[in-house]
Amino acid sequence: MRARAAIAAKTLRTDRWWFAPLITVIGLSAWVAYATVRVFMHKWYWVEDYHYLTPFYSPCVTDRCLPEASHFGQYLPGWWIIPDAAFTLPFLLLFRLTCYYYRKAYYRSFWLSPPACAVPDGHASYGGETRFPLIVQNSHRYFFYFAAIISLINTWDAILAFHSPEGFGFGLGNLILLGNVIMLWAYTISCHSCRHIIGGRLKTFSKHPVRYRAWGYVSWLNVRHMQLAWITLGTLALTDFYVMAVSAEWISDLRFIN
Ligand code: FES
Repeated sequence: MRARAAIAAKTLRTDRWWFAPLITVIGLSAWVAYATVRVFMHKWYWVEDYHYLTPFYSPCVTDRCLPEASHFGQYLPGWWIIPDAAFTLPFLLLFRLTCYYYRKAYYRSFWLSPPACAVPDGHASYGGETRFPLIVQNSHRYFFYFAAIISLINTWDAILAFHSPEGFGFGLGNLILLGNVIMLWAYTISCHSCRHIIGGRLKTFSKHPVRYRAWGYVSWLNVRHMQLAWITLGTLALTDFYVMAVSAEWISDLRFIN
């Protein structure tokens, strides 16, 4: 590697290069704090009248879960320390932690390695991702498969939520749940691993027209992956907060049909 130019200044950049890492630290920290509190609250995750289930509790698999909210059975004891969605949350966390975009974001903002282009690394040495523990980042593709299954589960939750005491129903909560699921699919499909699974290793695109076309769509989404990463943090928190607010009866759901 070539040595850094011999200049006394820490960096010659005069723009606000620190702004993006700072915003990232604030945004990610706030989201993680909110999600942690919600996951261990163990209440206000289900709206009985409309069958709204927050994604933070899906699928609800502890024996503390309300039976109506447990669409896939109950397998774990309801100890406080066990999240009600204990089967899915670890995989979602690892999917996001190993995501190529989030890696860039937290390496720059939390780890300062480096915080920005042409700004020195916050650490004396750089080990890269070729040895433990960061070599584990290479397992991202496998977490993508789990995330795709979890997106299917979230889709099922959104379908079941077209419910009311009269049978079929449709309200603002459905729009929020649906919007969240669409954005989750967009984020999941725009994953770099997904793009490689769809179109990688093909030597001749013309011999694989279907995969080539799919690869084109995924590539279009892929360049928006960063935006989708942030949008889905927003839609997840909004969906959870809305379900909590209706469940706790702070607000009532705006109903369009039944
Ligand atoms: S690269 Fe971000 S989810 Fe796969």
